[in-house]
Amino acid sequence: MLKINLKSLKIEAQKEIEKAEDLKDLDRIFKKYLGKNGKITQVFSSLKDLNEKERAEVGKEANRVKVFLEKKIKEKSPSSVRLSSKGKKEWFDVTIPGKKPSLGHLHPLTLVRKKVEEIFQAMGFSVIEGPEVENEYYNFDALNIPKDHPARDFWDTFYLKNGFLLRTHTSPVQIRYMEKNNPPLRIIIPGRIFRHEATDASHEVNFYQVEGLMVGKKITAANFKAIIQEFFLRFFEKPVKIRLRPSFFPFTEPSFEVDISCLACQGKGCSVCSRTGWLELIGAGMVHPNVLKAGGINPKNWQGFAFGMGMDRLAMMKYKIDDVRLLYSGDLRFLQQF
Ligand code: PHE
Repeated sequence: MLKINLKSLKIEAQKEIEKAEDLKDLDRIFKKYLGKNGKITQVFSSLKDLNEKERAEVGKEANRVKVFLEKKIKEKSPSSVRLSSKGKKEWFDVTIPGKKPSLGHLHPLTLVRKKVEEIFQAMGFSVIEGPEVENEYYNFDALNIPKDHPARDFWDTFYLKNGFLLRTHTSPVQIRYMEKNNPPLRIIIPGRIFRHEATDASHEVNFYQVEGLMVGKKITAANFKAIIQEFFLRFFEKPVKIRLRPSFFPFTEPSFEVDISCLACQGKGCSVCSRTGWLELIGAGMVHPNVLKAGGINPKNWQGFAFGMGMDRLAMMKYKIDDVRLLYSGDLRFLQQF
């Protein structure tokens, strides 16, 4: 009798599951058959009234039906059922993979800055910062650029109304640091600088520089060359040819500029390097005695080198970017490539 009952219960329940329209229906069906007072559950509780043989048989069968119905209910939910709270026409497939939240990431210039800091720190340099709004003393005078000196025009300066200016290079931080620290010194100064220039593919009104300063008893240009060569090797992760050209800066003597062989064309000549095969990346030289003096250091006992490297150009070389303005455009199509 109970066995026949089970069979019809199974068919009845199966039909109901097939017809179920939403999760609520399924829930109701589950309760009706498998819940605390469900029809199948009741079969289990009446097993105790049967004799041993029947009990084993009916028990097994009831269990089979139970497992079967549980499976059916599971299969039906959750993908193919309408959610009851939604309108009949609205469908919601909960098995469709969700949209991944897109994570932000570091800007290419930040990546470059971090890498530069990491490499110089490994070579014993400390990372120092200074103010972006400067005064004329630190930006010019202390760097051996007197008021009436024509070299001041090299830097197209944004002057502020209050007598301050936006720093045109990171060199003023050399002075600020020397004033407060005794040699030997070994620092880099990454930071943003400003120049009142027309913008084009290789010029922006604000960009990033990293200054370097090393002062000791016997520091020479050879030390500079070795350090900078090692820096490029680690930064570009391959040997890079460099050359030093004589140049002029009021705050270094002698002064030179450092070019690297263009990585976009392997030095053959292309649009990035204006067909010369070389790209100017660094202004450098031996710190001028007047600059050491301005920083409170005796040039008779100490000497050193300083350099200023364009970080935007480093980024352009590393990632093969042919227009500096892209770095400041905020264009996601560009940024998402990093
Ligand atoms: N400050 C110079 C510039 O902005 C670069 C430089 C730094 C040159 C240090 C020599 C020494 O052009």
